[in-house]
Amino acid sequence: MNVRFLGKIKADLDAQYTNVGGFSMGRSFDKSLAWQKRAKAALVGGGQPHKQSSPPRPVMIAGAKGAHFWDADGNDYIDYLMGFGPMILGHAYPTVIDTVTKYLVERGNVYNFGHTLEVELAEKLVQIIPSADRVAYFVGGSDATTGAIKFARAYTGREKVIRSGYHGWHDWCSHARGHLSGAAAATLSVDFNDLEGLADLFKAHPDEIACLIMEPSGQDLPKDGYLEEAKALVNANGALMIFDEVKTGFRYSLGGAQEYFGVTPDMSVFGKALANGFATAVVVGKKEIMDEVSDVWVAATFHGEVSLVAAAIATIEELEAQDGVAFMWKQGQKLLDGYREMTVRLGIENARIGGIGPMPYFGLSTNSDDERQKRFHETFYEATLEGGLYLPEGHIWFMSMSHTDEDVAKTLSVSEDALKRAKAA
Ligand SMILES: Cc1ncc(COP(=O)(O)O)c(C=O)c1O
Repeated sequence: MNVRFLGKIKADLDAQYTNVGGFSMGRSFDKSLAWQKRAKAALVGGGQPHKQSSPPRPVMIAGAKGAHFWDADGNDYIDYLMGFGPMILGHAYPTVIDTVTKYLVERGNVYNFGHTLEVELAEKLVQIIPSADRVAYFVGGSDATTGAIKFARAYTGREKVIRSGYHGWHDWCSHARGHLSGAAAATLSVDFNDLEGLADLFKAHPDEIACLIMEPSGQDLPKDGYLEEAKALVNANGALMIFDEVKTGFRYSLGGAQEYFGVTPDMSVFGKALANGFATAVVVGKKEIMDEVSDVWVAATFHGEVSLVAAAIATIEELEAQDGVAFMWKQGQKLLDGYREMTVRLGIENARIGGIGPMPYFGLSTNSDDERQKRFHETFYEATLEGGLYLPEGHIWFMSMSHTDEDVAKTLSVSEDALKRAKAA
């Protein structure tokens, strides 16, 4: 943690700005720092690596509501991480909490038996997701992508898979220390939008590839025709096309990026936003495929438990009732337009703006060998933090139904001041 640097930023801000442009002065991070010490002593690595931003920030969250969270020192932040995506309605969203509580009180939670509520949610998903004729429940995205791969292997009788994007931490898609090298050896990978690379993989491994699992969109959008042509190529080679919609699901459209782009894969994975923070995920697919693999062993104690399913039903109902997808598109587009306008006006050459309405991105492409760019980068992120924004660095942002006009306006105003400070640094 760069405490000295933060102290300097705070001193500079105190000296030069007095509550200008949304900066709230004199944030203390002492309590967060004390909690980080305790975390280091009690948690492996002081906590999981993805929960520690780079460079590390002096923030330990004490609570969250709507599109804001606050840290142990009581500093408030507008949140664009939103739990890395799940919090599509907002933190502590009342209708979800109330529905889950009601069902838990009335029905209990885990039976390990078929139950009525899991059927109701499955019927709803079949109605809204183009590739969904059948639904299988999982807990978390990694669990579900692994399930989808198993289904694809069982259906095709082939072992190799091609991945394109991030699909979780399980052995087949991770090269982290400790992974089973044999599992990853059966996984090939291709860059997003690289149709030629995809064709080459099929040529190099004829009749061996079970599926392509891919994120359909992200910081970069699919090139015109890419999704259609990739699907045609995959199917022509006897493999299945799986969209990993763990991030895009319920944001691009209720039916995911597949509905937005009008390309229906053979199977899809949804997680994160499905249940506004409850850890359910699903694999859905066409009935010709899913009925053939219904005997594949993908079973776990907490798949489809009542609280998860109830949260998902409440989340989808609220998105529908409030036209949540249109709202997120509108708010995200305002951010993208605002960043585009301000970076041109201020002449910020290393700005990187990407994504799309409900999952926008603003960041800086920084050459770490360039001292000036490094200073610019550090100053911008420290100043936005000090100004009450939590901007995911290097990662797509997530809009929610709780990001108000005021939040968007403050985000742009604090960002503009931070860019000016970074230019002057
Ligand atoms: C596209 C995608 N697939 C799968 C996963 C894994 O999901 P989880 O972290 O819930 O296991 C993620 C997580 O970020 C993801 O973004």
